[in-house]
Amino acid sequence: MIQKAARDFAQNELKPGVIERDEHQKFPAEQVKKLGELGFLGMMVSEKYNGSGLDALSYVLVMEELSKIDASASVVVSVNNSLVCYGLESYGSEFQKEKYLKPLASGEKIGAFCLSEPEAGSDATSQQTTAEDKGDYYLLNGTKNWITNGGTASTYLVIAQTDRALKHRGINAFIVEKGMEGFTIGPKENKMGIRGSDTHSLMFNDVKVPKENRIGEDGFGFKFAMKTLEGGRIGIAAQALGIAAGAYELALEYSKQRKSFGKAISEHQAIAFKLADMATTIEAARLLVYKAAWLKDQGLPYTLAGSMAKLYASKVAMDVTVEAVQIHGGYGFVKEYHVERMMRDAKITQIYEGTTEIQKMVISREILK
Ligand code: CAA
Repeated sequence: MIQKAARDFAQNELKPGVIERDEHQKFPAEQVKKLGELGFLGMMVSEKYNGSGLDALSYVLVMEELSKIDASASVVVSVNNSLVCYGLESYGSEFQKEKYLKPLASGEKIGAFCLSEPEAGSDATSQQTTAEDKGDYYLLNGTKNWITNGGTASTYLVIAQTDRALKHRGINAFIVEKGMEGFTIGPKENKMGIRGSDTHSLMFNDVKVPKENRIGEDGFGFKFAMKTLEGGRIGIAAQALGIAAGAYELALEYSKQRKSFGKAISEHQAIAFKLADMATTIEAARLLVYKAAWLKDQGLPYTLAGSMAKLYASKVAMDVTVEAVQIHGGYGFVKEYHVERMMRDAKITQIYEGTTEIQKMVISREILK
């Protein structure tokens, strides 16, 4: 039922205008509002905090369906659910849940997760943003890069160094509100893919963050980021799966309609074998994604499964979208047929929330430990 609701929403609400939003880098504001009304922005948050109280498997089904049509919209769902709401519900104080989680879970407000910096993306312990303890508040200074929902968010979870000597144990996570004095938002990035999503740099110049906005115990920020990203990777794996499945469905349909040398191109082995490879790898990615979500739902460790799902599904997304363009031939190279956008969108799944190389680090550490 949840899968069908997401599928219908994607067809009826996301598909119209998806090409124009990509072309003009237009944020899907109306669609995101409706996603909030459907309960898709706080899917795993308990009803007590205005969430939908669903599980991770439901969440990945929704991510997959939305991503088949519009990865720019689904990344908003992913960041808000996995990186912001999950982090706040799991590790936030009661005050933080009441004040910040509730409007984020209902979709009334949008959140952003701010870890990456100009010099610290993959190497997350090398945070240059500082938060100096001033008694009642912290003084935040620094720059964050590539922040999804950077312009549209109201609530920002910002990771910063409070004591450099303590390395990763001197890192904290803070809730920063849009409009706090000294907090400015840089121009929107002009991106290759997921162009409808809203990516910005953020600048913090002597921003006073009240002490009650620190998440968890002093020094918990790095673990907070790692735990939050762990769940985020399952959402992005589901996004990659959806992009692949969406491009495959279009290529399959096209190959049955398009004729060359007297028959449908799907009847040529050169195309049929491509479709066979696409279908097989998508199914394998799907099983990895569902397994990671299922493990999370069982309360079992999912670090390894989540990174495997993201590593594999993002490769499948890239490979399948390239083949989908190939099957469409010249039509695949023009915007009306959607697959060129999907090919551009697929690339980000190998980069954000931990690059392919980071997933290989996590996987190899897990299997060697
Ligand atoms: N859960 C809990 N704790 C963890 C953990 C996990 N999954 N992974 C590491 N830790 C802990 C370790 O136990 C260790 O703590 P102790 O010393 O107290 O035991 C501490 O964190 C440091 O661990 P490592 O020595 O393993 O750290 P590392 O520097 O080698 O880095 C890494 C590990 C996996 C590479 C990590 O840095 C990483 O995930 N990097 C990628 C970060 C990333 O995804 N960046 C993109 C963010 S997205 C964004 O900001 C923008 C947006 O819009 C979404």
